[in-house]
Amino acid sequence: MLHNKLTKTPLYYIINCMKNTQQINILGIESSCDETCASVVQNGRKVLSNVVYSQIDTHKLYGGVVPEIASRSHIDVIDTVVKKALVDADMTLYDIDAIAVTVGAGLVGALFVGVSYAKGLSQASNIPLIAVNHIEGHICSNYITHQSLQPPFISILASGGNTAIVKVCDYQNYNVLATTLDDAVGEAFDKVARVLGQPYPGGRYIDQLAQDGVDTYKFKSVLQHDGNFSYSGLKTAVINVVHNAEQKGETINQNDIAKSFSVSAIDGLVKQAKIQCEKHNLAKLAIAGGVGANSYLRETVSQLQKQGIQVYLPELSLCGDNAAMIASRGYFSYLNNEFSNLNVTAQPTIKLKMDN
Ligand code: KG4
Repeated sequence: MLHNKLTKTPLYYIINCMKNTQQINILGIESSCDETCASVVQNGRKVLSNVVYSQIDTHKLYGGVVPEIASRSHIDVIDTVVKKALVDADMTLYDIDAIAVTVGAGLVGALFVGVSYAKGLSQASNIPLIAVNHIEGHICSNYITHQSLQPPFISILASGGNTAIVKVCDYQNYNVLATTLDDAVGEAFDKVARVLGQPYPGGRYIDQLAQDGVDTYKFKSVLQHDGNFSYSGLKTAVINVVHNAEQKGETINQNDIAKSFSVSAIDGLVKQAKIQCEKHNLAKLAIAGGVGANSYLRETVSQLQKQGIQVYLPELSLCGDNAAMIASRGYFSYLNNEFSNLNVTAQPTIKLKMDN
């Protein structure tokens, strides 16, 4: 039991009236892929606890996420993870104003675990439920790291499942300005790592290798004529280089491959982000998503500061999947009275709430 009596009694409402109403505590729950996460965030920006249970060691054995194993693992730990988030925040459910849960995008079975748990908890404790789009959550990680950041701004969304340049119009609405036509950037990092014999997920290994490499291969940019991105051609180009070398019995320089791949994968994203900052007359650019941890991306985008663009990088611990970003996003829905009923369900594909 999370606490002795889950249903809110009249005493609860008296206590709540006495409590500082300026402090809104959101319990975030995230289970869209291979991390079971829960967090308590105050007023959308102050992290009181942030628990991440990673399944990577299990999925590593298979070279990628096995959806069925992911769902079962979420079921095993979700209750413990949520309890720990409350304990770490020194709170009980009585202190929680709303439960924000990732409803998509992600693996359907994995999402179902978090959504079902959150619905049950909301029903049992009479705490309002808020459905959160995972992608919007990634963008909100910046509100935690940069307390004064306010929309509008441009964001580079670079994760394992998504790649886009987004205009963040306000706390609720977004415009997708450019997107990938095929693979996501993180997916490409993972596939290239696999070809080089690196463990899953390979993004950070490519990042490490690239630090001692030189861009000798000069792969084509991922930026297409229409302003969108394509990662499948880059991925094939890297695979061809590796296979050709293998057939000729030559050894390749992994550092140079990693560096050349990184330059091609990232430069186009940063270039397009700069174009969109200028086009929309917005001198604020925030990074979001797991690939936001990439050192070459962080360095390259930081160079834009010299050209008058204020750059916002989320702290490394908030780049990957976490529930603090979900709770942060939930807070802005709370302020807008956007609550969900128990009909809400997992949505493996979900779009950003568009402004246009
Ligand atoms: O945002 P995320 O945790 O998951 C999604 O919501 O999709 O992103 C995971 C992706 C993986 O593809 C992982 O390899 C990549 O982020 N990643 C990196 C780095 N750290 C994680 N890619 C490049 N460089 C890194 N340092």
